[in-house]
Amino acid sequence: MIEKNKIEEIKHQTDIVALISQYVQLKKVGKNYRALCPFHTEKDPSFYVIPDKGIYHCFGCKKGGNAITFLMEYEKLDFPSAVRRLAKDLGIEIDTSHGLKHREFYDVNDKAAQFFTLCLNREIGKRGRSYLAERSLDLTRCKDFRLGYAPASGGLVTYMRQKGIKQESLIKVGLVAQHSTGRSIREIFRDRIMFPIFNLSGRIIGFGGRSLDDNVQPKYLNSPETPIFKKGEGLYGLYQARDFARQKQEILLVEGYFDLLNLYQHGLNYVCAPLGTSLTEKQAILLSRFAKKVYVLFDGDLSGIKAALRAIGLLISAQIDVYIASLPDGSDPDTVIKDQGVDALRGIVESADDFFHFYRKHVNTDTVEQEVAVIKDLIEIVSNIHDEIRFDRYVKYAAHVFDIGADVILRHMKGKVQETPRTSLRSKKTPEEILMAMILNHKEYFPGAAEILDTDDFMDPALARLFQTLRKDESFDVSDLSDVDIIDEGLKERLMALIIMEPTVSYEEFKKAVVHYKSEVETRRIKEKIAAAHAKGDVQAVMQYNEQLNVLKKKVLQLKTENVTHDVGSTG
Ligand code: CTP
Ligand code: MN
Repeated sequence: MIEKNKIEEIKHQTDIVALISQYVQLKKVGKNYRALCPFHTEKDPSFYVIPDKGIYHCFGCKKGGNAITFLMEYEKLDFPSAVRRLAKDLGIEIDTSHGLKHREFYDVNDKAAQFFTLCLNREIGKRGRSYLAERSLDLTRCKDFRLGYAPASGGLVTYMRQKGIKQESLIKVGLVAQHSTGRSIREIFRDRIMFPIFNLSGRIIGFGGRSLDDNVQPKYLNSPETPIFKKGEGLYGLYQARDFARQKQEILLVEGYFDLLNLYQHGLNYVCAPLGTSLTEKQAILLSRFAKKVYVLFDGDLSGIKAALRAIGLLISAQIDVYIASLPDGSDPDTVIKDQGVDALRGIVESADDFFHFYRKHVNTDTVEQEVAVIKDLIEIVSNIHDEIRFDRYVKYAAHVFDIGADVILRHMKGKVQETPRTSLRSKKTPEEILMAMILNHKEYFPGAAEILDTDDFMDPALARLFQTLRKDESFDVSDLSDVDIIDEGLKERLMALIIMEPTVSYEEFKKAVVHYKSEVETRRIKEKIAAAHAKGDVQAVMQYNEQLNVLKKKVLQLKTENVTHDVGSTG
């Protein structure tokens, strides 16, 4: 559990514009920012970021919240991870016990990597060295990857003991396994080339190991999942490639360790690989943080083609421009470089297909039905493009490639693409909603409103509950609005629209609005009383209430002409 104060501090210190700008192109409109929503497909921007409030809100898909919810939604993080990520950016320490535990994992992995590298360079690693030489890897050019060798005879446990690392720690990081039957343990990686797997902070989170003997199964063995190693989340090589990729805004995506290292050592260093799994959504989103364009260079076999077809949709949805290289049947980037040289591979990259052509080439379109299916698949993919110009280009391009009307494509999409309902911006808001939005917009003025207003001054029970919450919970603010369940979505929506659209006001104006509202409420109440008195035939009461009504009317009139004094509104 992270302390509530810490969370508040992190939320308030985070610059939400800077955060969201990392993912979305924001445009300044007045004091706020607007963009195409990253959470649904739209052509007119209805996603707003409100820096003063530390919030964002989309009027199209209704997603909204604060910096934490944005990261949760966009990066698919759970709450604590999102908070930790922001804390890290701000340099705020949280949760030290947890951090220590992770540090211990990293430390064990790092020392293990030292052991494997030592072995590779010593007599015991001769087999490993000659294997790497045979696969034409130049260790001096792959230093950053800290390759190693796990000897057939083991030795990790002994080495680690000398470094003060206990067996239990080795078990926890998955380098050693305990037999379920007895007390004996075994080192998992034997007679294998060791590939440390790094996270984006350069810490080793796990290992991959390639057996030297093709007869030994499995060919590749990876560390099990641990608290620091989650498959399908990271990308092998991204840590080493990140600056090259950012600079070039391109990434080469390959399948295997050797593909990657071979490209890297030949200067194609903006390269990474999903670790033995097919590309996941998380990985696609991760890639989009480093480059606009991805070249998929999977193996030239059926499984490579299938994996590429699956990756296309994910990459496009992550707003990445995708090209797919077709490698000769039965080859992979590693063997192409080995057999034909790096320039041959460069040529293959340069002649990579866009995804339409790749689909066309590799998916059967012999019958009309097959062709219809392919077109529909591709339209589905294109409909996930957020950028208006790219979207438009792709629709026209699809129309051209498939010889089909662009209008037909658009009409087909219409059923799928979520139209932006802009009604919420226009729909009618009640005076009490307008007041509540103003209160939420000016949390610092709240005591002034609390002096005058009572919970039952709000007719809508949801607004009354919200007012009650504001009274009780000082830390509650507009950035919590999307999380509360005391008000319904429609109301949230209307309040959000008001919060975003309404200008900020001075304390005087604010107070005036509050007093005015209170007077209206009182007027309504007195009128109700008059009606009731009438019904009962109580003439005296009617006169008395009418007198009160006149006083109120004068007050309202006064309000309209002059500034507010602080003692008004205490009647009733
Ligand atoms: N992989 C894995 N576990 C496996 C098989 C494969 O993690 N049991 C991953 C490895 O990262 C591997 C990649 O998937 O590099 C591609 O697999 P494959 O094409 O089978 O391996 P190659 O890289 O071609 O292997 P090599 O060239 O060493 O034979
Ligand atoms: Mn391969």
